[in-house]
Amino acid sequence: MSKPHWRPARASDLAAIGAIAARIHPALPERAEVLAEKMRLCPDGCGVLDTDQGIVGYGLAHPWMQYRIPPLDGFLQELPDGADCLYVHDVAVLAEFRGGVVRAYVADIEKLARASGIATLALVSVYGTRPLWERMGFLAVTADAELRAKLASYGDGATYMLRDLAAT
Ligand SMILES: CC(C)(COP(=O)(O)OP(=O)(O)OC[C@H]1O[C@@H](n2cnc3c(N)ncnc32)[C@H](O)[C@@H]1OP(=O)(O)O)[C@@H](O)C(=O)NCCC(=O)NCCS
Repeated sequence: MSKPHWRPARASDLAAIGAIAARIHPALPERAEVLAEKMRLCPDGCGVLDTDQGIVGYGLAHPWMQYRIPPLDGFLQELPDGADCLYVHDVAVLAEFRGGVVRAYVADIEKLARASGIATLALVSVYGTRPLWERMGFLAVTADAELRAKLASYGDGATYMLRDLAAT
C-alpha cells in the first residue's frame, strides 16, 4: 500500500468525506451540504488523506473571526471580511490510519494562514483531544458564559483553542 498522503479535497470527494464523518462523528452529525459549503468557500483549507484504497481522512478549515464559533451543522453563508483566524472545523481520520497523521494537515493550514496574512489558528477540541492539540501549539481558551453557549452544540467537554503562529 502506498503511504497515505494529504492532497487538496475536490467536490468529487464529498461522498467519501460524508461517509467518514458519519462513522467518526455519529453524535455530531452534519449535512453533506454544510460540508460542501465549506469546500466551496475555502477549497484551499480542505484536504483529504488519500491512499490507494481510497480516502481515509479529511480536514476542513476556513478563515473566520476569533471567538466566533460556527454552530455545528450550520451554514457559514459567507466568509468574514478581515478574518483574524483560520478555523479548523474538523479533522477526522479512520482509526486504522491514525498515528501522527494530523500534523501534516496542520502544517498545510499553517502555510495557508501565513500566506493569507492570518496569524492565528482556531478550533474546537472534542472527544478529549485537547492534549493532542496542545502538542501542536494550541492553547485552551478559558470559556466565559458566552463562549460556553457557543460551544454547546459540540457536546460536553468541547474546548475552544487558539494557536498564535507568531509564537511558534
Ligand atoms: C484527531 C485525529 C485526526 C488525529 O490523528 P493522528 O494525527 O493520526 O493522531 P492520533 O490519533 O495517533 O493521536 C495522537 C495522540 O493523541 C491521542 N488522542 C487522539 N485522540 C484522543 C482522544 N479522543 N482522547 C485522548 N487522546 C487522544 C492519541 O492517543 C495519541 O497519543 P500518543 O501520541 O501519546 O500515542 C484522529 O485522532 C481522529 O480522527 N480522531 C477522531 C476525530 C477527532 O477527534 N477529531 C478532532 C476533532 S477536534
